[in-house]
Amino acid sequence: LSPSAGSRPRARAARRGARDPFAARRTSFERYLARALAVGCGAPGRLGLAIEYAALSPGKRVRPLLALASCEAVGGRWRAALPAAAAVECVHAFSLVHDDLPAMDDDDFRRGLPTTHRKFDEGTAILAGDALLAFAFQELTRLAVTGTPATRVVQAIHRLARAAGGEYLMGGQALDLEAEGRKVGEWDVCNIHRRKTGALFGAAMALGGLAGGGSPARVDALESAGRQLGLAFQIQDDLLDEAPGPARAGAPAGRRQTRSAGADAMKGKATYPRAVGAERSRAMAASHLDLSLFILDEYRLLTPRIERLIAATAARAR
Ligand code: IPE
Ligand code: IPE
Ligand code: MG
Ligand code: MG
Ligand code: MG
Repeated sequence: LSPSAGSRPRARAARRGARDPFAARRTSFERYLARALAVGCGAPGRLGLAIEYAALSPGKRVRPLLALASCEAVGGRWRAALPAAAAVECVHAFSLVHDDLPAMDDDDFRRGLPTTHRKFDEGTAILAGDALLAFAFQELTRLAVTGTPATRVVQAIHRLARAAGGEYLMGGQALDLEAEGRKVGEWDVCNIHRRKTGALFGAAMALGGLAGGGSPARVDALESAGRQLGLAFQIQDDLLDEAPGPARAGAPAGRRQTRSAGADAMKGKATYPRAVGAERSRAMAASHLDLSLFILDEYRLLTPRIERLIAATAARAR
């Protein structure tokens, strides 16, 4: 092999890295998550395949990247927060598998691929989601292995359980279903979005702060900032759903589209644009992003990496 042939993949990777400043860390995280599932999950046959399919398909990994960056923001080493980042991503992956089921949003595509119940079957998808939720907490206890004191591990478990449970993620999803086909106001849709999406972003950042040894005030600040960011993220998700073209789909060229533009409107989902119009939705997303930045700045947590992550989130096209 000539040296130039060997350097071509490296050059390509470097170009990708230049376009995406989070590529290297996302790859490290994905390797960690793949190994954690392979070593720790132990699900047999088809269920194991469905779990891997749901968790390792090409997502943006926004929540884990925020957890790792939050760990650094309080002075920790980012690797110490890997179990927390993996736990949060598993809760997220579980929520997507169940969100796509026929009894919920009834979607056939996710991340440019068939949804888990389409690729496998409904029963397997339900169980894969359940297993991912349980595995999240199994994985979270591994924080102790990376040196996090037991009292902090307990706080991390509490925060993630609360964000994933009836008060937040599940409660938000329940209100989302109840609101389908009904007229919703701004308060209703904000109440849904802060629960179903805001809280998990808050937990991601708080858990990173806990793993990094942050003070209680700074961990709370990370949680508050994350909640604002997550709310803005869900408003953008609603706006992107209305955007025409395959950009929303996130499907590589040549692959089938994930869903048609305007799927939320067709299903009568409770979205910001439907409640308050696109213009106010954009303004509200911007104001929640600003509030997130303000909180982080107040607590000297606005590191360049977190700032870049928030900027990339604000500018996202999928
Ligand atoms: C999709 O989340 C569900 C929402 C809360 C809007 P993401 O947009 O983070 O999905 P992936 O993980 O990148 O596929
Ligand atoms: C999902 O919101 C939020 C979750 C908690 C899974 P959406 O239903 O809008 O997410 P997408 O558009 O299917 O990704
Ligand atoms: Mg939904
Ligand atoms: Mg959905
Ligand atoms: Mg959506």
